[in-house]
Amino acid sequence: TDRTAAHPAAELGVIGGSGLYALLDDVTEVSVQTPYGQPSDSVFLGEVAGRRVAFLPRHGRGHSLPPHRINYRANLWALRSLGVRQVLGPCAVGGLRREFGPGTLVVPDQLVDRTAARVQTFYDGLPLPDGSLPEVVHVSMADPYCPEGRAAALAAARDHAWEPVDGGTLVVIEGPRFSTRAESRWFTANGWSVVGMTGHPEAVLARELAICYTSLALVTDLDAGVGTGEGVTHAEVLKEFARNVDRLRTVLFKALESLPATRDCVCSHALDGVATGLPPA
Ligand code: ADE
Repeated sequence: TDRTAAHPAAELGVIGGSGLYALLDDVTEVSVQTPYGQPSDSVFLGEVAGRRVAFLPRHGRGHSLPPHRINYRANLWALRSLGVRQVLGPCAVGGLRREFGPGTLVVPDQLVDRTAARVQTFYDGLPLPDGSLPEVVHVSMADPYCPEGRAAALAAARDHAWEPVDGGTLVVIEGPRFSTRAESRWFTANGWSVVGMTGHPEAVLARELAICYTSLALVTDLDAGVGTGEGVTHAEVLKEFARNVDRLRTVLFKALESLPATRDCVCSHALDGVATGLPPA
């Protein structure tokens, strides 16, 4: 449970993806234990425009964790236990339409889960020893992303003259392999916009803890089924991410600065009427 509720160490969080292993300059590193095991790395606490921010590198600082080995529950739990109630989740994705080439920033409004073997709930019939979570909860996921967070991200990108794609569907594959051409064409035919490997269960687990979650999907490549795409390599993904990381950081800072100080969005009400031992959302 949240021993820091009265004096939270942070209110905002960023879970940095491939190529974003550090965000803030003047940080305090804290190691956080959770009932779900180890988060991906230490949490790095700092400030952006007077707001206390916690940064967590999703794959670990040396990128030692592939997408299917990330302890998503521990990551979200660790951030919430520090006081975090709003999270920005930048990630590298493949474009599923020719016009979504490398360098495109997509702020999706929908999510499709094509993962196969990931723990995707805190509520799996086994109450925590300290009784802080009930056994069974079904949260609404109709709109998986925070409307306020999305608005902040979109405005921040536009401010920086980086016209974002407002909305669209992020399909998340199990990985770690990339998609076949047939899979990729099928994703495109379904009307989905971008494909990644980490957006699920991250968004879902955030909602289960009534944390606001916003995905900032940076296109690093055209996926295998698009046009003449030859298929993508991890090296290309990292290279393209590196090309964009400065403006991504600027956009993240700006978005953090403009996230609302008090919440009344659908995410903040996700556990209304549910008896939890969690500190209030
Ligand atoms: N991350 C970056 N590019 C990707 C792609 N093409 N497919 C899945 N995840 C990705």
